[in-house]
Amino acid sequence: MDISTNPEMADAAPAPHQPPEIFRKDYTPPAWLIPEVSLDFALDDTRTKVTSVLKVTRNPAADTDPNLRLNGDGLEAVSILVDGAADNSWTMDGGDLLISLPGEKHEITIVTEINPSENTQLMGLFASGGMLCTQCEAEGFRRITFFPDRPDVLSVYTVRMAGSKAKFPILLANGNNTASGENADGTHWAEWHDPWPKPSYLFALVAGDLVANSDSFTTMNGRKVELNIWVREGDEGRTQHAMDSLIRSMKWDEETFGREYDLDLFNIVAVSDFNMGAMENKGLNIFNTKYILADPDTATDGDFDGVEGVVAHEYFHNWSGNRVTCRDWFQLSLKEGFTVLRDQLFSQDMGSEPVKRIEDVRILRLAQFPEDSGPLAHPIRPDSFREISNFYTSTIYNKGAEVIRMMRTMCGEEAFRKGCDLYFERHDGDAATCEDFVSAIEDGAGIDLTQFRRWYSQAGTPKVSIRLEHSGQTAQLHMKQQVPATPGQPDKAPMPIPLKIALFDRTTGKHYGEHLVTLSDAEATLSFDGFTQPPVLSVNRGFSAPISVEREMTNEDLVFLAARDDDPFARYEAMQDLVVGYLVAASGGGLSDADRTSARASIGEAFGAILSDEALDDEMRGELMILPSQTYIAEQSVPADPAAIHDEREGLKAWLGAQFTDELMAMHQRASAVPYSMKPEARGARKLKTQGLIYLSSADPVHGAKLAKKQFDEADNMTDRQGALMVLCGLDQPQREEALAAFHKRYDGNALAIDKWFALQASSLHPDALKHVKALAEHPDFTMTNPNRVRSLYMAFAGNPQGYHGSDGAGYELIGDVILALDPINAQTAARFVPALGKWRKFEPKRSAMMKAQLERIMKADKLSRDTLEQVTRSLG
Ligand code: TRP
Ligand code: ZN
Repeated sequence: MDISTNPEMADAAPAPHQPPEIFRKDYTPPAWLIPEVSLDFALDDTRTKVTSVLKVTRNPAADTDPNLRLNGDGLEAVSILVDGAADNSWTMDGGDLLISLPGEKHEITIVTEINPSENTQLMGLFASGGMLCTQCEAEGFRRITFFPDRPDVLSVYTVRMAGSKAKFPILLANGNNTASGENADGTHWAEWHDPWPKPSYLFALVAGDLVANSDSFTTMNGRKVELNIWVREGDEGRTQHAMDSLIRSMKWDEETFGREYDLDLFNIVAVSDFNMGAMENKGLNIFNTKYILADPDTATDGDFDGVEGVVAHEYFHNWSGNRVTCRDWFQLSLKEGFTVLRDQLFSQDMGSEPVKRIEDVRILRLAQFPEDSGPLAHPIRPDSFREISNFYTSTIYNKGAEVIRMMRTMCGEEAFRKGCDLYFERHDGDAATCEDFVSAIEDGAGIDLTQFRRWYSQAGTPKVSIRLEHSGQTAQLHMKQQVPATPGQPDKAPMPIPLKIALFDRTTGKHYGEHLVTLSDAEATLSFDGFTQPPVLSVNRGFSAPISVEREMTNEDLVFLAARDDDPFARYEAMQDLVVGYLVAASGGGLSDADRTSARASIGEAFGAILSDEALDDEMRGELMILPSQTYIAEQSVPADPAAIHDEREGLKAWLGAQFTDELMAMHQRASAVPYSMKPEARGARKLKTQGLIYLSSADPVHGAKLAKKQFDEADNMTDRQGALMVLCGLDQPQREEALAAFHKRYDGNALAIDKWFALQASSLHPDALKHVKALAEHPDFTMTNPNRVRSLYMAFAGNPQGYHGSDGAGYELIGDVILALDPINAQTAARFVPALGKWRKFEPKRSAMMKAQLERIMKADKLSRDTLEQVTRSLG
């Protein structure tokens, strides 16, 4: 019997060193509440003293428990007072402090001491580039002081901090600055008060030598909000895009969701050492510099979009996350899925809606689909975990957003807005659940979501196969859905799948209206009348459901849609299907020469139509030119042979480059004449330039290298420069080294640009990528303590299909080494490398065995973090 499906047996025989598994069904409300907290920080790089005063009261809504559980992680209490008197009624339970309390209400005073400089995990209070800052989500607050570190305990915080004025001239915390002053000894202090009750994961503090880009925003009800973006001196010139994005986000959230900001101050601080993108702490967002700093010389168009999207995301959390927070961490998608949807809709409104939609689907397919079909698959509302940091996944974020987007599609924008209004109204100030959200949408929008709730409980990407049958005047669509088995979930029930569909008349090239149909059963048939000849089926338009579609379709029909579907996503999808179908068959060795020739001809026909279509804008044209990623193709051809897929994909690129040399050259020339600006035409032109280089250099590396070097030398912006360098990195041509050296020299000392320099080499198509990565690890600019740098080198490499999957397994061994070396330094980041090995079951036997062997090697390490241990165990299981 499979022990993983039998909880009793799993309990009976756990691996000896496994951390406990926590179950959603075991939720109980906290026995004690903390209505108020006062924190006092005596700041110091190596010895910060934290005094915490907690007002605790019994929770009338919970079972009585004399013990107050205060979570701690690596903490020792210097002193504990209960109601002002020394107390020895406490005990330790692992890292937690348990205090037995006799009455209904008490005041607890606890002193702890922590060392921010030694905090390489970057959770809790840590030092970054001379400043001190915090990261508390999900369970970092317990590394600062003892506290019920769970999101359903909401408190009003008053924070006082004192420290060297020279070292830490700026002192920030959540809420409003209520008082500050100077001491005679060269220290100064500040007091902050946040009137909004919040869980501990939203606490934040920053102390450092910072300068601000300041502005203000007046809300719809006339509240004037002071806005500051704090960075290290010298970086302030690269903060204007972030400020513009913040102001646009504030306005958009008022107009689109009716959400107004609720404090007089909104601070953002950028730090260079950070585990994730950014954090939505109340009134004091903390960001990875990558998502704040941008100017044309150092940031690509993609980077600008990243800044805009993440600034919006964190700002939107003020309502979806902070005003309404999560009851427990199983509900994480309640705030993350919803907030991702909100930032996606915002970005769609700020730029090209179809291009943004395609980009979001590409991310989903690259990151979430593989997760959903592998050993780490989990529902958007998981049932259990051992380490919550491992569940900040593409499933929770991106699939979570798709699930809410489906609700919006099914009930329509207006009704959806009513549902959201009701959700915010009902749950303002609450720690809520996913169920609360679904009920509010049901009641507010007037829609029945009973069966739809399965999207929250079932993992796995549904497969929908569609067959079109035509006879007489009638077209029939036969649809079947299947939700694949995932770990712990062998049997699945059908889910409601909203599909936008159109049937094209192949003679007129038009369709007669789009239909929204919901496939709720395992199988269904739909009939459409009035077709004298078989129509061409366009389905899952706009990617109305996060599923994979199998449609029996001729290449001729796919070319038809790729050239003229009026739904931009469906047009992109037809092109992708055409190419995926070809590459899966070709790399599997299943194509005759004749089939290969005819498939290439079809792809060429569609590609030519995309190049020459004058009705297309260039951003969309560039999007349509992007071939499906090797990862996506590998997902479609399990067990995958990465070398064969790589060769076929490169072969197709070279063939297209050769077929369309003149057109691509002309396109590159036309695009090169467009001057730099942020206008869509100029952004589109830059996208085309690099897409052109990709195909041209594939067909003719010598000429391509010349053209790329020219683009590199003449570039007046990072988009063109990085695009050219990316192409050069993949070529074994003399210009490669020249350009790399010039780039490093130009950006020496600029961390974010040097990250690009590492990442471009690590992800390159060059046959010696592995060798390059090993050499780069010895470069003086490389360090294992900065997550951005680690990701630039090793995450980029783990995503390099050719370098990572080298047939000797050396790429797998390198990632195994990285996990082992990084685990003691930064467990959260180390664990994020495990999925690269965890997909071992999807590859041909030799590679599969080598990947698995690395997981087994890691498993044997003397000491592993909870993060890495959980991921490796699940990956092997
Ligand atoms: N809540 C943050 C966001 O999505 C995520 C986050 C930031 C985070 N830093 C973290 C999660 C550290 C876990 C650990 O906006
Ligand atoms: Zn978020």
